[in-house]
Amino acid sequence: MSTLGIIGSGQIGSAVARLAVAADIDVVIANSRGPQSLAALVEELGSRATAGTVKQAAHAGEATLLSIPLTAYSSVPADLLRGRTVLDTGNYYPFRDGRIAELDSEKVTTTELAQQLLPGALLVKAFNNILAHHIPQLARHTRAPDRSALPIAGDDPGAKARAAQLIERLGFDTVDAGTLSESWRFEPESGAYIQIYLNDPDVPVERILQTPTAPLPADKLRAALQASQRVKVAERTF
Ligand SMILES: NC(=O)c1ccc[n+]([C@@H]2O[C@H](COP(=O)([O-])OP(=O)(O)OC[C@H]3O[C@@H](n4cnc5c(N)ncnc54)[C@H](OP(=O)(O)O)[C@@H]3O)[C@@H](O)[C@H]2O)c1
Repeated sequence: MSTLGIIGSGQIGSAVARLAVAADIDVVIANSRGPQSLAALVEELGSRATAGTVKQAAHAGEATLLSIPLTAYSSVPADLLRGRTVLDTGNYYPFRDGRIAELDSEKVTTTELAQQLLPGALLVKAFNNILAHHIPQLARHTRAPDRSALPIAGDDPGAKARAAQLIERLGFDTVDAGTLSESWRFEPESGAYIQIYLNDPDVPVERILQTPTAPLPADKLRAALQASQRVKVAERTF
């Protein structure tokens, strides 16, 4: 991969952009306010980074990272990402996104809902189960003995393979967690969510940012995904 498009320049989008430029991948990054608002980030990222429109980021390179709030998905033109490999980082937080009946009823997972909004896009759920804050702490070069693994899920095997290859280059191993319908296994509150990257996974939520991380090898992540129970999304309080 030579270029990654990034839609969303917030916490996750910028953390992944930093990994990409460090891995010698060019990035075209976009947000809702337009390229001129990204001058400082692009300067920080260096010569491999360009600020673009959402359309430019959607069509740049071989894959797109979609890292925007769930409420913003419907503003992305439905056809824009058709046929593209898209890494979807989205999670459902009712306090931010409002209550969404299809998610509360567990009829679909969050990325299945995204797939309905973006028909034809080759969605791969990724980077949603790790805090942006922990991404630079845990990313490692390919041969490091203490690499952590991230789960991915998707319905298109080719897109999933491309996403895995990209993530491996960005600094993480990957574990295939199945199809989009199985991606609840690493959604918020599940057994494979952000706490699994802490050295003490039982710390109270308010202490997560102060708690040191610990590398999570692929076999441990696989076990966590296997043991994960589907949470009652309707009872989510955040
Ligand atoms: N933060 C985390 O640790 C974390 C961890 C796992 C998953 N996630 C999930 O990943 C997604 C992104 O989270 P985040 O924390 O990175 O969000 P964030 O810091 O709030 O940033 C959101 C980004 O999305 C952009 N955006 C909003 N609407 C847009 C639109 N219509 N078109 C283009 N760009 C748009 C915003 O642009 P403007 O600034 O110009 O409005 C901003 O750059 C969310 O779904 C979140 O739930 C976050």
